[in-house]
Amino acid sequence: MMSERVKIIIEGKTFEFPVIVGSEGEKAIDIAQLRKTTGYITHDPGFGNTGCCRSAITFMDGEKGVLRYRGIPVEQLAEHSTFVETAYLLINGHLPNREQLTQMRVLLNDSSMVHEDMKFFYQNFPRNAHPMGILSAMVNALKSFYPIYDIEEEQTYTTLNLISKIRTMSAMSYRMSRGHLVIYPRPDYSYCANFLNMMFDNPVNPYKMDEDLVKALNVFWILHADHEQNCSTTAVRVVGSGKVNLYAAISAGIAALWGPLHGGANQAVIEMLTNIQKNGQSIRQVIEMAKDKKKNFRLMGFGHRVYKTYDPRAKIMKKMCDMVLGKLKKKDPLLDLAKELEEAALTDTYFIDKHLYPNVDFYSGIVLRAMGIPLNMFTVMFAIGRLPGWIAQWQEGMEDPEGKIARPRQIYTGAGLTNYIPLGER
Ligand code: CMC
Repeated sequence: MMSERVKIIIEGKTFEFPVIVGSEGEKAIDIAQLRKTTGYITHDPGFGNTGCCRSAITFMDGEKGVLRYRGIPVEQLAEHSTFVETAYLLINGHLPNREQLTQMRVLLNDSSMVHEDMKFFYQNFPRNAHPMGILSAMVNALKSFYPIYDIEEEQTYTTLNLISKIRTMSAMSYRMSRGHLVIYPRPDYSYCANFLNMMFDNPVNPYKMDEDLVKALNVFWILHADHEQNCSTTAVRVVGSGKVNLYAAISAGIAALWGPLHGGANQAVIEMLTNIQKNGQSIRQVIEMAKDKKKNFRLMGFGHRVYKTYDPRAKIMKKMCDMVLGKLKKKDPLLDLAKELEEAALTDTYFIDKHLYPNVDFYSGIVLRAMGIPLNMFTVMFAIGRLPGWIAQWQEGMEDPEGKIARPRQIYTGAGLTNYIPLGER
């Protein structure tokens, strides 16, 4: 596989570097020896051309709009699988048999409660604290409440502990932020049903479980479950490369996901649509604003580093908007607005030439709104979904025979040697 070589001429001298070919034919120049042999490093802001690892977890083809977890198209998983089964697939590399799936469900149930003392933390965050900040802090705090020192145990116990508890903790943070009674997880409910129940049940008006909404939540989380080396996953891998514990690495991933250019875009899309509606802007005005570099405004939920065609997740999410709203007999004017914006953007040369299409976040907020999820919890929903991917990637990084501590280089552009001037002489 490594017979091909690439020649690079530097200062008149020719150097040869091996080529790595992935299982889907993607090619990379292996420059691990570049600095040693040539004295040069590469400069690639945003890492758009840099492969930081070999990975067997997720395959994306951004030109064709392909997304597969462990080889299985995301469309098939969205149609036939559950979030828990997909999490098993990502973490273990294969679909579970009936017994393995049952065992995973039992273990998730066993780990679903959160230490009662953790409630004190929740109580002391300011009421308007963003749930992503709270979640990142609480996931990090889990290490103190559930200390595990053995790496092997960490990979089994911590994994399930996290997947189970993140759901309980997220629902808890919502309930406590509203001053409502915390609802505990029920062993008779599935992973997704349990989350909805913990969010919305109350003793006066018990939550009526709707299987279509449970299915929709499964699909929502499956679509977010992994996306190879994105910003938050890279954060998890980089932090993990220092051999820190899984909770700390995931906490870093949650912090990275929070940003509006990444997972925070689902909240930003709804805020953008609401503003357009409130300010009575026309679709044309919004499109022109997004094209104007001086305006510092982007069409949120549009564009992607890898996809240069329609994001396959966005296609499913768009259909799900109609399904969920239809099922709940609700109308959402923001959906009509989003569809109009999409149509206008996809026929505008700016968006066509730059290959800017709706990404997963463009329609996901409409689905979450319909389910009753509050706006500031949207990115938390993304985080719960992305957790199995982060775990699988962390694990792969820990076991990688080529794995090293992440430590990029830089091109220094600061001052030359400068002598210190004592305080009185400045
Ligand atoms: N609206 C208007 N113009 C855009 C947009 C947009 N949403 N996205 C990219 N562009 C333009 C950008 O101005 C640039 O133009 P030029 O070449 O003339 O300078 C060109 O398209 C390339 O953009 P870029 O910022 O260099 O591309 P990137 O790969 O660094 O950024 C992105 C990708 C997703 C951060 C960006 O498209 C963006 O900011 N989108 C809006 C935020 C968003 O929806 N984020 C969610 C991403 S999907 C969920 C996830 O996995 O994170």
